[in-house]
Amino acid sequence: MTGPQVTVIGTGYVGLTSAACLAHLGRDVVAVDIDESKIERLWRGEIPILEYGLEALVLEGVESKKLSFTTSYESLTTADVILLCLPTPVQPDGDLNLRFVEGAIAQMREMLKPGSVVVTKSTVPVGSHHKISAWLDRDDVSVASNPEFLREGTAVSDFLNPDRVVVGASDQEAAALVASLYEGIEAPIQLTDTTSAELIKYAANTFLATKLSFVNELSRLCDAVGGDIEAVVEGVGSDNRIGSAFLRPGPGWGGSCFPKDTKGFAFLAETHGLSLPVAKASYDSNQAHFDHLVDQIVAYLNKPISEARLGVWGVTFKAGTDDLRDSPSVEVMNRLIARGATITAYDPAADHEMVPSEARMVSDAYSACAEADALLVLTEWDEFATADLEKVAQTMAGNKVFDARYMMRPEQASAAGLVITHPGKPTG
Ligand code: UDX
Repeated sequence: MTGPQVTVIGTGYVGLTSAACLAHLGRDVVAVDIDESKIERLWRGEIPILEYGLEALVLEGVESKKLSFTTSYESLTTADVILLCLPTPVQPDGDLNLRFVEGAIAQMREMLKPGSVVVTKSTVPVGSHHKISAWLDRDDVSVASNPEFLREGTAVSDFLNPDRVVVGASDQEAAALVASLYEGIEAPIQLTDTTSAELIKYAANTFLATKLSFVNELSRLCDAVGGDIEAVVEGVGSDNRIGSAFLRPGPGWGGSCFPKDTKGFAFLAETHGLSLPVAKASYDSNQAHFDHLVDQIVAYLNKPISEARLGVWGVTFKAGTDDLRDSPSVEVMNRLIARGATITAYDPAADHEMVPSEARMVSDAYSACAEADALLVLTEWDEFATADLEKVAQTMAGNKVFDARYMMRPEQASAAGLVITHPGKPTG
């Protein structure tokens, strides 16, 4: 079923995935971006981001002519649904800047056909639909919210197999039109008002980040009382009211959404004069977790941090992505460098030029261990679980491994002559 004609504005992580997946579902999709060279690359199926399955869907869409790329807004004269997938940069106070959205609306408002619907897909501050309606100033064009719940690295799978689709709209026709985008997807479609839909996105991300901050605090408590965080997580997560998903302890959480959305949630509360401490506490707890991990690493070393040479495995904010935005690994590395450590780091996907750190980047895991006093595992790339630990031990100067992502088993490490420690687990 072809369904509504769609124009997607913005071909970033959210826009490109949404455009390719909607074309795969049979919609006629035009993806628009201001970057001419990017548009040319997309026509050739050259995907600028690491997203499993995305290249295949883009090539399929171009082949089937269901998906096209352009810098022009001309498709907006016939589009039924316009998906706004534009950057909404976070400001220091936590509010988001909607200048890109406002600019796009100004360009399109005269072109849109009566009955079309402008939909926000990227995260926008709650209540933005009022501003967008005012900028549009068209009573024959509706505004709706259709928040994305895409995790980087699994965005294609998340788009095509969602737990639910949320559509917020003020009128039923607009809601039905947006819901029809998802014809062919087996998932409940929740129709609600626009404000609630905008809030669902913030609430879901803030809750997930809070769940992670809690498990990382639990890990710190295990260190203090001698508990085993993996056992505690198993026992807590087996309660179906809690669930084991998003209960993996780590070096903290990051990415382009959680930090932005927890700050945005706290900002929203403040602007309404509400004292809602959980979101801000979750953000602050995560920052404290980075500091705690650094203190643990410093205490673990046999020499002053200012003389320490450290190897780091994993720089991206999580495995499966090349994204470095708000990476916990970078937060920890930079704190260690600020205390005088020398760091050599390896990551299978990170662009060396884009790593916001003075760490020296190398192109293989073992080079990162060369002459290192200790090895830190900070992002959970699969290859680290099957690395040749004998070779690691021979390459390092010291024998200590600080595995913040629980990728290595102690018996593996000791067999290779390495001493390993995991945050939240009893040593020895
Ligand atoms: C998140 C939300 O999951 C997604 O629904 C939303 O649309 C965008 O933001 P993303 O930021 O891509 O997705 O990554 P996610 O997989 O949620 O991980 C976020 C951070 O939490 C990463 O740093 C990750 O390493 C960390 N994490 C995640 C854990 O430390 N433990 C876990 O169990 C899960």
